[in-house]
Amino acid sequence: MDKIFITRKLPEEIVQPLREKFEVNMWHSEETPMDYEDIKKEAKDVHALWTVLSDKVDRELIESLPNLKIISNLAVGFNNIDVEAAKEKGVMVTNTPGVLTETTADLTFALLLATARRITEAEQDIRAGKWKSWTPMQLTGMDVFGATLGIIGMGRIGEAVARRAKGFNMKVLYHNRTRKLEAEQQNNFTYVELETLLQESDFVVILTPLTPETKRMIGKKELGLMKETSALINVARGGIVDEQSLYDALLNKRIWAAGLDVFETEPVPLDHPLLTLPNVTVLPHIGSASIHTRLAMMQINAKAIENVLEGQEPDNRVV
Ligand code: DGY
Repeated sequence: MDKIFITRKLPEEIVQPLREKFEVNMWHSEETPMDYEDIKKEAKDVHALWTVLSDKVDRELIESLPNLKIISNLAVGFNNIDVEAAKEKGVMVTNTPGVLTETTADLTFALLLATARRITEAEQDIRAGKWKSWTPMQLTGMDVFGATLGIIGMGRIGEAVARRAKGFNMKVLYHNRTRKLEAEQQNNFTYVELETLLQESDFVVILTPLTPETKRMIGKKELGLMKETSALINVARGGIVDEQSLYDALLNKRIWAAGLDVFETEPVPLDHPLLTLPNVTVLPHIGSASIHTRLAMMQINAKAIENVLEGQEPDNRVV
């Protein structure tokens, strides 16, 4: 019987159908991640490895699992997996695109609005007893309606964010590796060079995958091009932004604010300098976190594993 190992405790309703056909073992905790050596040990003779985005699946791990046929990652991003090593070993890698598009776009917009209107800061003030009177300029933020939105990475989620922006009468600019001519016409957004996007946007939203090309693509120079009144929103991967440069830009009011759902190190350490700034709105990587969407993502992983172990081609194959 083929063996599956799941690196995080998942709802039994998802796992049970797999148990009827395969031997399934699963980490005991939903909250505590497995460490690298534990994954190596627990997965040593498995045919399928079901991972989450915080698991590091590098060449050494892949090469230590001789029976492995598939790694199925509970995320659309797969920067945690050495896909080249997987490809060389003939191991398939699958992800969960599509089902999380609208949910992640909702969260992107929520974070953009919260950052613009200082929502979390306002709530913290009330709870800390700081609401003494209605004050003319207290907690004043930036308007979203009619502002210019710059999207870096115009994939499915980018397009879904751009559609939401229409309702706010926003002008939408985007920068992407390739132009999306049909979508440009349908949704009325405009392709520009990165430099122009940074210079002209009131809200710069990062939605590009983390790859060697995009690592730290937003640093001192790029932040220096942004408007002093603008905000940076990152819902992609922390590693795309140079966090020290972002901290400096926010501290020195080079840019106005940031909304971050992702960090270079997750969970973000409590003593991280960005957490000391009032003009930073932070979330714990919850882009796709609706009940419906997380369950749909899990169904996709389960199906891909079932397909591969039954000798069929899985959907959403990355390599
Ligand atoms: C993903 O799927 O890559 C997202 O970051 C999850 O929220």
